Amino acid sequence: MTEPVLPPRQPFTRPHLLQIGDLNRLEALELLDRARLFLPFTQGRDKKLSVLKGRTLINLFFENSTRTQASFELAGKRMGADVVNMSVKSSSVAKGETLLDTAATLNAMGPDLLVIRHGASGAAQLLARKMVGCAVINAGDGKHEHPTQALLDAFTMLRTFGRVEGLTVAVCGDVLHSRVARSNVALLSMLGARVRLVGPPTLMPTDVGRWGADVFHDMRRGIAGADVVMMLRLQLERMDGGFVPSAREFFRFYGLDREKLALAAPGVRVMHPGPMNRGVEIDSDVADDERVSLIADQVESGVAVRMAVLEALASYGGNGRAGGAGDPA
Ligand code: NCD
Repeated sequence: MTEPVLPPRQPFTRPHLLQIGDLNRLEALELLDRARLFLPFTQGRDKKLSVLKGRTLINLFFENSTRTQASFELAGKRMGADVVNMSVKSSSVAKGETLLDTAATLNAMGPDLLVIRHGASGAAQLLARKMVGCAVINAGDGKHEHPTQALLDAFTMLRTFGRVEGLTVAVCGDVLHSRVARSNVALLSMLGARVRLVGPPTLMPTDVGRWGADVFHDMRRGIAGADVVMMLRLQLERMDGGFVPSAREFFRFYGLDREKLALAAPGVRVMHPGPMNRGVEIDSDVADDERVSLIADQVESGVAVRMAVLEALASYGGNGRAGGAGDPA
């Protein structure tokens, strides 16, 4: 099969994608536009493009991940890049190497694109300052940000509703520990959605008043009239006790079931970034109902959006990427 001819894209003006704030509205919309172009291609039979032919992508994951790592790997391969997966268990990081030693090793390998997931907020930014001639993409750093998740969520809403602007989106559950919530609030607000944050006071960040979203502690009020209910995973691994009385109590007050969902707008759709704690933040009955659940669409959208992000960063035209420009250290 001959490769489809893609309309050229404008050179991207950002050296890295570390947080949603790295993008302006126009750049975010451009990425979503390009993802729309790639989507039918990811659904077709012949899935290989040569946009990134000759480029090397390293996937560096310090935390367990199934869907995000696979999504970036597929996106890279479908764009024609060479993809290497490095997970912490098999790397020398497990032997005590610091992030900065890792950067030096990676620099010697000369990747063009580096995707990093790390348990510490700010890890992606630190690495970006030390990498030479390589774009860094944050695939989740601690409780900070997960920008490609927000982009794929917005893209999923666009596919479903034809717009993001004017939608009422209720982001519910463990906001405190969620990088997904932080990135989504930033992007959805930028794109003109009305964003609500719903959860118990113990699972709200202390600075939530500055996030620019309406905060609700009563789930029923929080999802009333919402077009999208986005559930977050209860991040039990990031809790050291005392945040919720028990999983059963949490489900009673903040778990999404049919009864609570009935209060949302007609035609409401449900999202979850995965992995789900079934029976804790979401009832299987809702999660598995294809008439309301967009969870599978989110995964599909993820590959197309990441193809667009990789393409954009590979097209970067500036020189701010070399030798840690902007790094006083
Ligand atoms: C999220 C993550 O890791 O931040 N999942 C994902 O990327 N698919 C959400 C989560 O772990 O709860």
